[in-house]
Amino acid sequence: MSGSDITYAGRFDGRVAIVTGGAMGIGGAAARRLAREGATVVIADLDEKAGAENVRTITETGGKAGFVTCNVTDEAAVRALMNGTLATHGRIDILANVAGVSTKQAAVYDMPLEEFRRVTRINIEGTFLCTKYAARAMMARKYGRIINISSTTSIMPTSFGNTPYTASKGAVSALTRQWVMELAEHGITVNAVAPGPTRTPLTEARGPKMLADREKLIPCGRIGEPEDQAAAIAFLASDDASYINGQVLVVDGGLTVVRNATQQ
Ligand SMILES: NC(=O)c1ccc[n+]([C@@H]2O[C@H](COP(=O)([O-])OP(=O)(O)OC[C@H]3O[C@@H](n4cnc5c(N)ncnc54)[C@H](O)[C@@H]3O)[C@@H](O)[C@H]2O)c1
Repeated sequence: MSGSDITYAGRFDGRVAIVTGGAMGIGGAAARRLAREGATVVIADLDEKAGAENVRTITETGGKAGFVTCNVTDEAAVRALMNGTLATHGRIDILANVAGVSTKQAAVYDMPLEEFRRVTRINIEGTFLCTKYAARAMMARKYGRIINISSTTSIMPTSFGNTPYTASKGAVSALTRQWVMELAEHGITVNAVAPGPTRTPLTEARGPKMLADREKLIPCGRIGEPEDQAAAIAFLASDDASYINGQVLVVDGGLTVVRNATQQ
């Protein structure tokens, strides 16, 4: 059984959620899950076609969703996303910072500075900007749930040639803890999900061998599905998680504990 089989009907009734990177992959599944459980979901993504398709999937099954074209590194676009959501829906309760990219792989001694800047800009600056403007809206109502997406690479190296991605996800985990200090008094919790290898357009673009090799190492015996990550995002967005703050929840089928154990 994966997270896709479960629904807590009405868990997010009346809540408004913004899911960046919600057009596909982990963000796509998170948007569907939050909507299925009652949230009004705003999908913010660069990919208009995939975003519109995910909105259609949600609305055809009775959910409430809309799409906003937004590059998370563009401050004006992020501000417009938050202001537009407030104007249309009156509130922002949940922000899932899922938009992110992987890196073209190269050892540190061959890594172009431009690639380092491209990946860290999207993964760190995007998370920062969306949090900055969503937090302001959440503070006004003294309620918010922010869920960042880190990676198992923030706790151990997972691929050769991953310098920009590892840097970006280490920063996302650290910022998750930093923002607890600044947002808890405003009724906002900040947590992160750290996915292990998960079957999405991002990982499928690296070819079937990468996922097949990883699968052999995973104690749960299968690669993660986007719905497994969406289940963790929904939990951290829910009131069941109201006393959980500043945590990075690893969702990897046990991969990192086994890798750590065999290395000692
Ligand atoms: N798939 C995995 O194995 C895995 C593992 C660990 C962490 N993650 C993280 O999970 C998140 C989602 O990954 P995924 O595998 O679903 O990727 P994906 O490529 O399938 O989906 C990413 C989405 O983000 C959007 N996006 C990219 N750059 C954007 C930008 N600048 N502004 C707005 N939207 C943008 C894309 O259009 C796409 O819809 C990422 O942060 C990724 O680093 C994924």
